[in-house]
Amino acid sequence: MKAIETYQKQFLAFLETYKEEREPKNLYEPIAYILNLGGKRLRPVLTLMTTDCFDGDTHQALDAALAVEVFHNFSLIHDDIMDAAPLRRGHQTVHEKWDLNTGILSGDAMLIMAYQLFENYQPETFQKLAKLFSQTALEVCEGQQYDIDFETRSDVSISEYLKMIEYKTAVLVGAAMKMGAIVANASTEDQNRCYEFGRNLGIAFQLQDDYLDAFGNPETFGKQVGGDILENKKTYLYLKALEFSSEKDQRQLKQLFSNDGSDFKDKIQIVKELFIASGAAEATKKAITSYTKKAFEVLQAITIADKNKQILQDFGTQLMTRDV
Ligand code: IPE
Ligand code: IPE
Ligand code: MG
Ligand code: MG
Ligand code: MG
Repeated sequence: MKAIETYQKQFLAFLETYKEEREPKNLYEPIAYILNLGGKRLRPVLTLMTTDCFDGDTHQALDAALAVEVFHNFSLIHDDIMDAAPLRRGHQTVHEKWDLNTGILSGDAMLIMAYQLFENYQPETFQKLAKLFSQTALEVCEGQQYDIDFETRSDVSISEYLKMIEYKTAVLVGAAMKMGAIVANASTEDQNRCYEFGRNLGIAFQLQDDYLDAFGNPETFGKQVGGDILENKKTYLYLKALEFSSEKDQRQLKQLFSNDGSDFKDKIQIVKELFIASGAAEATKKAITSYTKKAFEVLQAITIADKNKQILQDFGTQLMTRDV
């Protein structure tokens, strides 16, 4: 196996070949814009790495890797509309730079473009990839709906939250890896273990995303820090803060996360202080470590060379300490 940067480079070179100027411009320019804004390219890299782990040909995994990245970027355009987010990867979000309708339609087109990429596979592989993709894409929609539903609910439980992030985020990470295993013709058992590894890593990843949304460095984070707090997102931080707080602090948090609270001047600062003082910030860090460890346990069972396991484990460890 190779260094992470090698997979990144291989993917970016392929993305370059995917670019093509198409009409109407107002449909395709926002697509090129979001795809060129960068990002960590976590999911396509995982697809390529997984194929390589099983000694498959990473070139054959490129279409699947790109499909996953195009889908991910589609979900970000629509997510930014739903979350009223002004900033993505340090730049204006698509609906801010263009408008709402552009964001909706360019996003729709990307979902279809993602599916189209699977057409480059032979029927048997195509069927496996498309089936996994459809199931995953639908689950992402379900997760996104729970996320929005929870904004206006005050009785969200930790288990509901975990299900929500599993759907909106983790299943795609799992699917990205499983696709890599499918392309490499790994056994069904190993395909499923890859999915489980990615799913647990994905849960840790979303917990970390929630943590950074509150505590990330505004200079480097690339998204609006405190956006989840402004939108009354029922994150792990919020739910644990409620659980660990005195009745007085609970009342304040609930008040701030209600309609009346949204215009409160120092909302972000007060909430962040409560997240820290209650121990919720610490608990979130622990949960990130715990789900990453779960992923590593699953990794042990995958029938690949130990040195390949080590590379995947190092990648997971790196993710845990990311700040973007
Ligand atoms: C952001 O994903 C959305 C989540 C599921 C948390 P990433 O953090 O992977 O975003 P980019 O692609 O690197 O910008
Ligand atoms: C995003 O969750 C999940 C999907 C895009 C499906 P978030 O709303 O937390 O992602 P960011 O923080 O905007 O990247
Ligand atoms: Mg969201
Ligand atoms: Mg968002
Ligand atoms: Mg987020």
